[in-house]
Amino acid sequence: MVSTDNSTPRAGARTPLIAGNWKMNLDHLQAIAFVQKLAWSLKDAGHNFADVEAAIFPPFTDLRSVQTLISADKLPLVFGAQDLSAADSGAYTGEISGQFLAQLDCTYVIIGHSERRMMHAETDEVVAAKVVAALRHGLAPVICVGETAADLKEFGPSAVPVAQLRKALAGVTSASDIVVAYEPVWAIGSGQAATPEQAEAVCAALRAVLLEVLGADVAEKTRILYGGSVKSTNIGGFMKQPNVDGALVGGASLDLAEFASIIRFQKHAF
Ligand code: PGA
Repeated sequence: MVSTDNSTPRAGARTPLIAGNWKMNLDHLQAIAFVQKLAWSLKDAGHNFADVEAAIFPPFTDLRSVQTLISADKLPLVFGAQDLSAADSGAYTGEISGQFLAQLDCTYVIIGHSERRMMHAETDEVVAAKVVAALRHGLAPVICVGETAADLKEFGPSAVPVAQLRKALAGVTSASDIVVAYEPVWAIGSGQAATPEQAEAVCAALRAVLLEVLGADVAEKTRILYGGSVKSTNIGGFMKQPNVDGALVGGASLDLAEFASIIRFQKHAF
């Protein structure tokens, strides 16, 4: 059905995705309370999840509780993990297999977040192997790319994210369900978001990579998110950009009212 809501300029069939990356916050009991309240608050506000998809990415130890709650109460939220192993099983102490995540009904898995690249020395090769592992288990990878402030100064805005995406897709041959998140490292947790125009320019360059590597269909249907200090007061500017299809939200995804307001951007930001 053709939507009559013209509040978003996004032309194609890309449903906006607002994704909350909780990082290492909220234990499984807190997660249950948060998810219940978020679902109620969105339901009370009449949110249409077909218009804007809402996803949460809790810590691993919360996933079983979140799965049980969402399935028992038939909540229209989707969820994913913040990382996975490139391997499926074996002697990998502390690692989590994509197979386990798929068994827990995860839809998505974040791969290559800058915190993992920096704190856990994840290389582009590791990221590429994790993307393949996610797809092997039917999980949609949320591939994170983004430049540091030093990269920005040295190489300009899109060179590093474009190179990272190319490398992350090295093992991907067919059109699968993938999501790309452009997260400038300098904007993460800094309160200093990119401008909508900066985000649009890089997201357009990332879509050109998708076109070149995976073809027109994939480039057209793949959601590209912006992440880095997204709030309810700046989400509208990003969502007006034709190549920005949603947001990966860190800090603000832990504040219930704020996250709900970001998800409901169409109601207040246009
Ligand atoms: P932030 O984090 O929204 O707190 O800047 C974004 C992220 O790291 O995904």
